[in-house]
Formats: sequence, C-alpha cells, structure tokens
Amino acid sequence: MEINALEKQINRFARIRMAHLPSAIEPLDNLSRALGGPRIFVKRDDQIGLGIGGNKTRKLEFLLGEAVRLGKKKVVTFGGLQSNHARQTAAAARKVGLEPILFLFGDDPGEYPGNLLLDLLAGATIHFTPMKTGVERLEKAIERMRKTALEFPDVSEEDTYIIPVGGGAPVGLLGYLNAALEIQKQAEEMNIRFDHVAVAAGTGGTVAGLMAGFRLLGSSTRVIGIDVGSLWVNFRDSIAQVATRTGRQIDPGISFLSDDVTLYTDYVGEGYAIPSEGCIEAIRLLARHEGLFIDPVYTGKAMAGLIDLIRKGTFGREETVLFLHTGGLPALFAKGDIILKGLTRR
Ligand SMILES: Cc1ncc(COP(=O)(O)O)c(C=O)c1O
Repeated sequence: MEINALEKQINRFARIRMAHLPSAIEPLDNLSRALGGPRIFVKRDDQIGLGIGGNKTRKLEFLLGEAVRLGKKKVVTFGGLQSNHARQTAAAARKVGLEPILFLFGDDPGEYPGNLLLDLLAGATIHFTPMKTGVERLEKAIERMRKTALEFPDVSEEDTYIIPVGGGAPVGLLGYLNAALEIQKQAEEMNIRFDHVAVAAGTGGTVAGLMAGFRLLGSSTRVIGIDVGSLWVNFRDSIAQVATRTGRQIDPGISFLSDDVTLYTDYVGEGYAIPSEGCIEAIRLLARHEGLFIDPVYTGKAMAGLIDLIRKGTFGREETVLFLHTGGLPALFAKGDIILKGLTRR
C-alpha cells in the first residue's frame, strides 16, 4: 500500500491529536563508533509530548478518540506501580475532560515517587490491587483485569472506557501502525533505509503495531522486539495475534504467525522492573556517549539487548538500526539508588 493510501485509511478512525509528530530521528554516531557499527539512530518518542512523553501518547490519541466518540466519562487502565502507561493515561484523560481511574498492581507503597507522584498530581483515583501477571497468556490476563475492574463501584460498563494493560487494544495500536508510516516517510526524506527498528516489548503492542504498519507498506524494515519482563506465556504468539488484529482494521486479509515475530528474550535479567547489569551499563553508555537518558525498566533493557546483539555481530557494519526511545524516564528517578549502586563513578 502506498503511504498516502495508508494515511487515508488511518484518518478514518476517531483520534484526538496530542502528540508532537513526527517525533525526531537523530543519529547516535558516538555510540555506533564505540561499538564498531552498525549505523544507529534513535527515534525520540520520549519527547513526543503529553505528560512527559513516551510511547503511550500515540496509542492514547486513538483510544481516547474512541472513548470520547462513545460518550464515556471515565477511563480505567492497569499497570505496575511505576507504570508509564498509567501516568500517560491519567494525563491524557485530564486533557480531554475524562476522569482517570488506575488499577496498579501491588500494595500501597506508602511513598509515591516517579510516576506515582505524577498520577497523584493528575488527581487519578488509584486502586492498589494485587493483580499478578506472568503466569498466563496476555489475552487472558487482559480479560481478568477487565472483570476485576468492573467489580469496583466507581467503574461501570456504561460510562467507563476500559483500556487494557499497556494500551494494547488494536484501536490504540493504530498509533504504532501510523508510526511505521511516519518512519518510512522520514527514511525517504533522509534518503536512508532503516533495516531494523529495535524496541522494548512490555505487552508487545508497540512491536505489533509497527509490524502491521511495515507489512501494510510492503516495507522490508524488520521490527526487533526485546522482551523486558518475561511477563507472558506464548508471548510471540500473542504479539502475532495482536499484529493481525491491528492490521485487519485496515486490510482484512493481513495475517501474522508467531514465526513472523522477532523477539529476543535473553535481556530480562532477574525480572520485570529489576534493572539488569546490562541495563545499567546501557544507561551509562548512552548518557556518556550521547547525552541521551534512557530508563531502567524498558529502554535500558532494550538498549542492553541491542548493544549485546551488536557486540555479537548480529548486524552488518553497513546496516542501519533505528532504536525507538519509548520514554519511561520518571522511573529513572524512582530507581536512582539501585542505578547509582550499579554505576562506577568514572
Ligand atoms: C517506556 C516504555 N517503553 C516501552 C513500553 C512497552 O510497550 P508495549 O507495552 O507496547 O510493549 C512501555 C510500556 O509498557 C513503556 O512504558
């Protein structure tokens, strides 16, 4: 499909513009040099606007577009205690005049740094609930969370728009389908070809949306997901299904299998939101070589994966890799002590 034709199709969907688009693409030449190639670029979705930015802004444009179209009054979503998605949903809900309600997995920590501070500033109602993840399929977990939320007196099917964990509903992932189109356009303007786009995979929605977008465009750009949490059973399969459902909103004939999903699962370390050694090294390398700050939960692990893959010679020197910076910086401030402990001073 031509870029213009795809753009027209995407524009059929309800959308509230909140993002600063296109997000910038910058070369990371110092890092490329330090690692001995390939050519690395970063796409700054961390600087995309709305409540300190991050990848959820693109999804929320479509999700809240639909919520408003349906006449909803409240928005519910789910996430870890330091969920960027929850924070951005709270900010976006306020922006469009909806009431944010957050279900955060865990006990009330008694202290509210990082994203929790921002959730509270936005006046979100927070329910701290021990809704554990990690032992089931993503789809099942999403349905279970939805049912749990509907048991709370401030949530009802009629006036509440329920956004799944990570904003991973197919309508929201149009935001990343659209990002693939944006990347293609920028590549043409820059007279460059991005062979690979590397990105953190939490719920895998960003990976799925990008895959659907590049497939619809007939592009050979390969999306590389780096799992940051080992949170889901059959994760590749879930991503393929979500990519299929996302793409079918535009082309009913599109289909993905789990083998179509490139997902590296070796960079999780001890678990979700626990910074690995590689993650801390990546945070330091990026800050010192490029003055670029990445986060300890998502982009730090994704970059650790990318650096390791480069060191292992996965990419040719002449190839070009675009790293998608999906944001998450508030967690850096919430986990400063752990990160500093893992850092050498020099
Ligand atoms: C900063 C950041 N990067 C990456 C991700 C992963 O995105 P996805 O859930 O679409 O895989 C998230 C959220 O889950 C995030 O907050």
